[in-house]
Amino acid sequence: MAPSASDRPFDFIVYGATGYTGKKVAQYVVQQHASLSIAIAGRSKDKLLAVAQELGLPESSVLVASLPSSDTITTTADDNEKTKDQLVQVLSQAKIVLACAGPYRQCGMPLVQAAVEAKTDYLDLCGEPQFFDDTLLECDEAAKTQKVLVVSACAFDCVPAELSTCLVSKELLKKYPGTQVAGVEVCHTFEGLSKANATTFHAAVDGFHAASKGDLKSSRKKVTEKFGITKPPKRPDDWPKVPEQPGNLPTYHKATDTYILKFPGADAAAIMASWRYLRLQQPDTYKDRPNPRLSVCFGVQSQMTGYKVIGMGAIFSGLASTSFGCNMLHSNPGLFSNGLFVEGEGPSDADLEGVSFCTHTTGYGSGSKEEMVKVTCKGPEPGYVATPRMLVALGLTVLNHRDKLAFSGGVVLPGALFGETTEVYESLKENGITIEVVGDETK
Ligand SMILES: NC(=O)c1ccc[n+]([C@@H]2O[C@H](COP(=O)([O-])OP(=O)(O)OC[C@H]3O[C@@H](n4cnc5c(N)ncnc54)[C@H](OP(=O)(O)O)[C@@H]3O)[C@@H](O)[C@H]2O)c1
Repeated sequence: MAPSASDRPFDFIVYGATGYTGKKVAQYVVQQHASLSIAIAGRSKDKLLAVAQELGLPESSVLVASLPSSDTITTTADDNEKTKDQLVQVLSQAKIVLACAGPYRQCGMPLVQAAVEAKTDYLDLCGEPQFFDDTLLECDEAAKTQKVLVVSACAFDCVPAELSTCLVSKELLKKYPGTQVAGVEVCHTFEGLSKANATTFHAAVDGFHAASKGDLKSSRKKVTEKFGITKPPKRPDDWPKVPEQPGNLPTYHKATDTYILKFPGADAAAIMASWRYLRLQQPDTYKDRPNPRLSVCFGVQSQMTGYKVIGMGAIFSGLASTSFGCNMLHSNPGLFSNGLFVEGEGPSDADLEGVSFCTHTTGYGSGSKEEMVKVTCKGPEPGYVATPRMLVALGLTVLNHRDKLAFSGGVVLPGALFGETTEVYESLKENGITIEVVGDETK
């Protein structure tokens, strides 16, 4: 039987601490939250010991556990059972697992299943929409029964967009009594040119390929059927439209003085999944609300940059839709991303310096065009400086304020779980990520 929370020696286990991001997450906890007890875990003892030494962690904080494999040729069912038991035993030593091993398509599911069995809350960095649906299908029931929280997308994908959407909606309803949220626009802008580790590129190639074969659609269909999800009520025709929508070409966006394009990340999928989850779990509050119109975009400084991004995107999606093209993409992330993705060691500290993001979110009321609230989310370099802060801030919210969250168990995204709490915004702020109503910054 899994030990109770108070009998667990560690607050957090960082699984995948040998990876580029996992190590930064562990480092952030060690440097900024020294009072927390933390373990690092993964499949390679030697690599973990090297990370522990670098971070000044004792050998007793190194926990070795592989993930069960789905390959039935090289692994027997018996071996897999032993591997799983070992993983459950490792995870049951902590209250929360910060799951940093990816791509999640390959390593996510066994970790979620083991966390549920170990009764250990699970938070990850996954930005792969099919994984949101697959974990919901496979694990929601068990997670609810075990009262375990399984939360994906606790990273730049999709914390700024999801929690800004929640805050803007809440403030809009407060500021204009009687109104409904008719539209939400999320626009990411960036200062400096960020670089990224190639694993995210590989995850995107495989995710796009699977979606082009219909796998994403099929997972979504299974979710709809299994949970009996019905469509939200139709949006009234007279609700105001989101005024500046991204089109197929870079479009000037007055509010941010940039040229906007549709954002290719998982934000829109996560926001919609949170809305769906709330409609399903809290029908009295959400069933009769039409979904707002949603626009998620990002801004670039010039029209020319916008055209270059569209060109790279077209090459990427063309290649990722065939197996041959996927192999080409996997073999050269740098070439096919114009140097954005770095293979091997990942981006250097210098690459991450001087980079920052601002997510501008506007909520529009159903009453008139004048009903509007703006929220900004600001932080440092999004992928590897802000992301560890977000993951840890959300982890701390679960650790310290579990009783204030919308659910006590289940497979849920950050918006649905944390959106209504004030503690998550405070925790993010304490960790250097601000989500604030424009005009309220001094509060
Ligand atoms: N959403 C966001 O904003 C965001 C930001 C950052 C990262 N991420 C995601 O986080 C994940 C990790 O990224 P990264 O750049 O840190 O990648 P990485 O450097 O390649 O690290 C991958 C980690 O996963 C482990 N791993 C891989 N396959 C495994 C398996 N079969 N069994 C056990 N462990 C396994 C690796 O262990 P070994 O060292 O033993 O190989 C390593 O610790 C990716 O999915 C990435 O997309 C998302």
